[in-house]
Amino acid sequence: MEIIQVKDYEEMSKTACFYLLKKVGNIEQPVLGLATGSTPEGLYRQLIEAYKNGSLSFKNVKTFNLDEYIHLDQTNPNSYYYYMKKHLFDWIDIPKEQIHLPNGKAQDLEAECLDYENKIKQVGKIDIQILGIGLNGHIGFNEPGTAFTSRTHVIALDESTREANAKFFPSIDDVPTHAITMGIETIMESEEILLLASGEQKAAALNRLLNGEISEEFPASILHRHKKVTVIADAADVN
Ligand code: GLP
Repeated sequence: MEIIQVKDYEEMSKTACFYLLKKVGNIEQPVLGLATGSTPEGLYRQLIEAYKNGSLSFKNVKTFNLDEYIHLDQTNPNSYYYYMKKHLFDWIDIPKEQIHLPNGKAQDLEAECLDYENKIKQVGKIDIQILGIGLNGHIGFNEPGTAFTSRTHVIALDESTREANAKFFPSIDDVPTHAITMGIETIMESEEILLLASGEQKAAALNRLLNGEISEEFPASILHRHKKVTVIADAADVN
C-alpha cells in the first residue's frame, strides 16, 4: 500500500486527478470504478476541467459505480445516479450506455446484483477503482462484518452510516435503510485501487486502516491484501 500525503482537500483532488489521467492515458478503453460521497467531488471537478481543456476524453471510458441506495428514484437528488450526473456525467463526453450503476429500484434486487456482476465480467475488469472510506471502515457500502468473499449484494446500512450520510437528506428518517453495493471480493478484483481520505473526521479510520489488523470488522483493512493500492490523504489524516 503506497501512501501519498498531501496538504489539503484541494491537493488531494488534484493529485488524484493527475494520477488517474496518467493511468487512463495508457489504456485504450479504460474501465473506471467510481465512488460517491463528499470525498471525490473535488476529483470530479478536476476531471471535468481536464475534459474541458482537452487533456482527457471519456468517449472510450466505461464506468461502474460502487453502490446505490435502494428505493430512491434516479431523479431523487440523493440517489447516487443523480449525484454522478450532477458531479461528473452531465459535464463530460461519456456515452450514456457506458455508464453503470446498480439499479436500486429493480423489482428483483437479487437478479440486479447478479446482473451487475455480469456486466463487470463482460468488460473484463475494472482498471482503477476509486474508493472513499466510511467512518466505520466501510468501502462501498460494505459495512463491518461483511464477508471478505462477498460479491455485489444488498446490505442493511449501519445506523452510524445512516447518521453520517444524513447531512445530505432533509432528515435521518429520509436516509434509506438499504443499499446495493459491489462486494468486497468484487472490489478486490480491480486491477488497481485509489483510496481518498480527507479531514480530521477520517483520521481515526485512516489510522486504523494503516496500522490496524486485517479483519472483517474493518472492511477497508482487506486492501492490505491487494497488490496495488494507493492512498491519497491530507495531513489531518496521516498524522
Ligand atoms: C458513503 C459511500 C462510500 C463513501 C463513504 C464516505 O456511504 N457509500 O462509497 O466512500 O460513505 O463518504 P464521504 O466521502 O462523504 O465521507
